[in-house]
Amino acid sequence: MDDAWICGRLGEDESWQLGAVNPPVYETSLFTFPTAGALTEGLSAEDENYVYSRGTNPTVDVLQRKLAALERAERAKCFGSGMGAISATISSLVSAGDHVIVLGAVYGPTTQFLRYLEKFGVSHTTVHADNPAALDSAVKPTTRLLYLESPSYMRYGIIDIRAFTAWARGRGITTVMDNTWSTPIFQKPLTMGVDLVVHSLSKYIGGHSDLVGGVVAGPARLVRPIAQTEYQLLGAALSAHEASKAIKGLRTLPLRMRAHQERGLEVAEFLAGHPAVRAVNHPGLPSHPGHALARTQMTGFSSVFSVELGTEDLATVARFVDGLRHFRTGVSWGGFESLVNAPALTTQESVRATMGIPLGLVRLSVGLEDASALVADLAGALETS
Ligand SMILES: Cc1ncc(COP(=O)(O)O)c(C=O)c1O
Repeated sequence: MDDAWICGRLGEDESWQLGAVNPPVYETSLFTFPTAGALTEGLSAEDENYVYSRGTNPTVDVLQRKLAALERAERAKCFGSGMGAISATISSLVSAGDHVIVLGAVYGPTTQFLRYLEKFGVSHTTVHADNPAALDSAVKPTTRLLYLESPSYMRYGIIDIRAFTAWARGRGITTVMDNTWSTPIFQKPLTMGVDLVVHSLSKYIGGHSDLVGGVVAGPARLVRPIAQTEYQLLGAALSAHEASKAIKGLRTLPLRMRAHQERGLEVAEFLAGHPAVRAVNHPGLPSHPGHALARTQMTGFSSVFSVELGTEDLATVARFVDGLRHFRTGVSWGGFESLVNAPALTTQESVRATMGIPLGLVRLSVGLEDASALVADLAGALETS
């Protein structure tokens, strides 16, 4: 089944929708039952029957069916945010006394959540490694989970997914991967040995910077307990309205990702050739150290990447950011609008140093505006900074 069909039609039900091209938005918290006995049955399998929208909702189910199919997963469960999905997934897999290995740089709040879990007796170690053997010194008898992002956060390094998941499988360790950067259009981690995939729907999948949502996808044996326990108890439910927006986002996802890829590469190539730029961290560029590996596990590249300006002067970074007209300053990414984010201007120096982020590093999210206008914008800002 091709991804365009999944995004457009899969999981929708002609009879239920009465021919409407968009699935109805089930704007209800509550589903009633014909008899008291039916209610009891519904409650005992709440993630499969409609009882209450903190558990399940038909509009959200449409989105879940599509996301599961895109990730080649048996099941998917949507959440009220990416962090809702990530925190529920990690919580489901670990208990007091367990240990987690984090591979490389991951989204900051994910690491903060792991630090938060320390008060419940869950420890973690971050390992920056490019081969699985390096994990042998970090692994403990209590290691339950290997958590990764590829491309990695802010520097967009590529991790050998097949090699690391094989290492984890051999030790009975569950692998969870954040696939937000690539979207399932460009990368399908479950087909490479990853056990569970998580996403923020708030980026490319939503695609219009108008919703916050998340998802976990994988085998039913791992997703069902999350749906029945953490989803219900931690309460990060996705509303039918947000799900409906994500369904509309999915309709154009394959098209948008191709357009993001084209524009992102055009802008990255321009920057790579500019004398004021020290480095461009975009795995789609043949000069990127992970490019050859990326080609074996990804079918395309999204348009968020970082550049390292050849400066040690904070004021130069600020002038560059302020000199941009098309790229607006903002923390998120994956929508229509191009965005810029300079950690040196927003993050404490000590935090930046721990993350290995140089002063001149600037993240760009290339949107869907005309690429030549974006290049001209960057050229002008580099000239005047
Ligand atoms: C890679 C990545 N994963 C997860 C998240 C968290 O998603 P949300 O903001 O939807 O909670 C983000 C948000 O920026 C992200 O960049």
